[in-house]
Amino acid sequence: MFLPWSQVPNGSGVCRAGAPMLVWPPADWEGDCLSPAKEPSLHALTLHAPGDVRHESVPDPVLRLPSDTIVRVLKTAVCGSDLHGYHGREIGLDPGTIVGHEFVGEVLEVGEQVRSVRPGDVVVGAFSTSCGNCVACNRGLTARCLAGGEVFGWVSSGTGLQGAQAERVRVPLADGTLVKCPPELDLELALLAGDVLSTGLFCAEAGGVGPGQTVVVLGAGPVGLAAVMAARAMGAEVVMNIDRIPGRLQQAERFGARPVHLDDDDVVAIVREAGGGLGADAVLEVVGSKAATRLAYEIVRPGGTISAVGVHTESNLAFTAGEAYDKNLTYRAGRCSARAMMQRALGLMTSGVIDPSPMITHRMPLSAGPNAYALFAARAEGCQKIVLEP
Ligand SMILES: NC(=O)c1ccc[n+]([C@@H]2O[C@H](COP(=O)([O-])OP(=O)(O)OC[C@H]3O[C@@H](n4cnc5c(N)ncnc54)[C@H](O)[C@@H]3O)[C@@H](O)[C@H]2O)c1
Ligand SMILES: [Zn+2]
Ligand SMILES: [Zn+2]
Repeated sequence: MFLPWSQVPNGSGVCRAGAPMLVWPPADWEGDCLSPAKEPSLHALTLHAPGDVRHESVPDPVLRLPSDTIVRVLKTAVCGSDLHGYHGREIGLDPGTIVGHEFVGEVLEVGEQVRSVRPGDVVVGAFSTSCGNCVACNRGLTARCLAGGEVFGWVSSGTGLQGAQAERVRVPLADGTLVKCPPELDLELALLAGDVLSTGLFCAEAGGVGPGQTVVVLGAGPVGLAAVMAARAMGAEVVMNIDRIPGRLQQAERFGARPVHLDDDDVVAIVREAGGGLGADAVLEVVGSKAATRLAYEIVRPGGTISAVGVHTESNLAFTAGEAYDKNLTYRAGRCSARAMMQRALGLMTSGVIDPSPMITHRMPLSAGPNAYALFAARAEGCQKIVLEP
């Protein structure tokens, strides 16, 4: 783990690897970094315990650092990653944390160091913060930014960042985290660039997807569908999408994938045959479970790649080192560097190469957030992406 922002040694000017980096607050900064938040006047969704999401009033965010902005959230969404805490799979979140990490909104206030956005600008946020200047950011690894790298909606033992399922959100490192929304693009679609679409692109790219390939996407949730779109945009010849929810498999077909039912179809035989008897060139694992990893291993061809963006909470991989050896396997995993991918995701939409709009199945007011979580968790009513409006 990299140091969270609040623990970066002040004024040191170098990262732990010894490279120069941007450190806030600068030595001459006289602002009050620890100023208390205002009175509870912000409507937001908070998670108190597994299954216990509340719509309640919490303190309004304030500018704390000169690189901060405050954004008025116009649209936010519920992500599969929000379900890990909701189901109690992921632990450590402080009760009452504002959840959510996807947002588009209008810039309300900017700190004095912010250069790229002004009040009134409409922006989309990457789901984690990044400075844009450190050695990690310079390599396109904004998810592992040495100065930021915090995910919105994750506060643990008092450290971290409040979330975006709220009327307003504080965005640190605004210049390296926010992107202006293309005016011609529907805000709902721009919203998808901050996480799901970028993650789909990242997953396909890490899988080495290219023309003529046989690609299997595990999971037909919103990110799985984004991976289907990405694989097709990158020229894959055959794209299969595996899930067990009939409505989601229908969606997958709509986005150009061959749907395969996890339980009713002979998945291993179907994929091996499609891959000329060997298996898939790339398996994009967009689930986050041991069973999905094992299935990915079974269906990837020798010499192929498993690219995993599913968030895992188990401690071991579902294949052994020997099995990896026996398949000449490449296994890649990790958090998407959304900020480094977003311009591309936005460009694919504005140019009309991909149109993810059918994946948005529900629109609700923020106040209905607890119902939205219950619906999404149950995969009820054909639910895919739920957009919430404060
Ligand atoms: N790495 C990243 O940066 C990043 C970013 C966004 C989301 N994620 C993760 O991606 C995953 C998917 O997100 P989502 O929003 O689409 O979630 P989701 O929960 O809506 O979708 C997961 C889908 O996987 C299906 N599934 C379950 N077991 C399966 C199996 N063994 N084989 C095939 N399909 C199976 C489920 O039926 C479901 O439709 C989550 O783990 C989420 O945390 C990671
Ligand atoms: Zn997410
Ligand atoms: Zn950085």
